[in-house]
Amino acid sequence: MKITVRVWRQANPSAKGAMVGYDLEDVSEHMSFLEMLDVLNERLTLEGEEPIAFDSDCREGICGMCGVVINGLAHGPERTTTCQLHMRTFNDGDVIDVEPWRASSFPVVKDLVVDRGAFDRIIQAGGYISAPTGSAPEANNLPVPKEDADRAFEAAACISCGACVAACPNGSAMLFTAAKITHLGLLPQGQPERTARVLSMVEQHDQEGFGNCTNIGECTAACPKGIPLETISRLNRDLLGALAKGKD
Ligand code: SF4
Ligand code: FES
Repeated sequence: MKITVRVWRQANPSAKGAMVGYDLEDVSEHMSFLEMLDVLNERLTLEGEEPIAFDSDCREGICGMCGVVINGLAHGPERTTTCQLHMRTFNDGDVIDVEPWRASSFPVVKDLVVDRGAFDRIIQAGGYISAPTGSAPEANNLPVPKEDADRAFEAAACISCGACVAACPNGSAMLFTAAKITHLGLLPQGQPERTARVLSMVEQHDQEGFGNCTNIGECTAACPKGIPLETISRLNRDLLGALAKGKD
């Protein structure tokens, strides 16, 4: 395929960025989107130009590193991660715009790379449990109802990619925060810190400058792991209960 990619180039956080167009002549439909960028970067390097900076790690939809906005959509036109998006999704002759996540809480580091440290700080605020370490406990000591286990597992599928924030008109990270709170709050091991956790994580979410949730639902539509909007309802129920009780 012949395609044109227009990529956001920004040398550093304070530089003025701009979209720069590149024509590619021989793109295989079997390439992933990131492999297409790899090929472009090889060419730029051979031509003595600065390669395009973008994040990736696992390249199999697990690590959450590879988020970019493709033609205005977080991770592009399919409900998957950018590394799992293939060029067969596009047509010969297409012009494809590639931009970093647009959210003030995710400042641009360089080109398509953004700083998602705000997510780390939300996790640090409460995304953990206190449990004695040592030998593994007997699995049947802590029975978990099947429905709770399934819903906790569903929430634990969040890969912290940030697509929910990029897609939300309010720049809210509530789906991410709710996934972490739900994952731990449904399990017996997560109960001791449950009240403090929701208060601390939501407080950190707000301190990081993420917007409020107004139930638009763009987050869940963009989420490559299908975290449902009801997860935010669960966070809200936990938050109201915690506010009524006060911080432990
Ligand atoms: S909730 Fe979905 S979109 Fe948001 S960070 Fe987690 S996996 Fe990514
Ligand atoms: S590179 Fe890990 S999810 Fe895409």
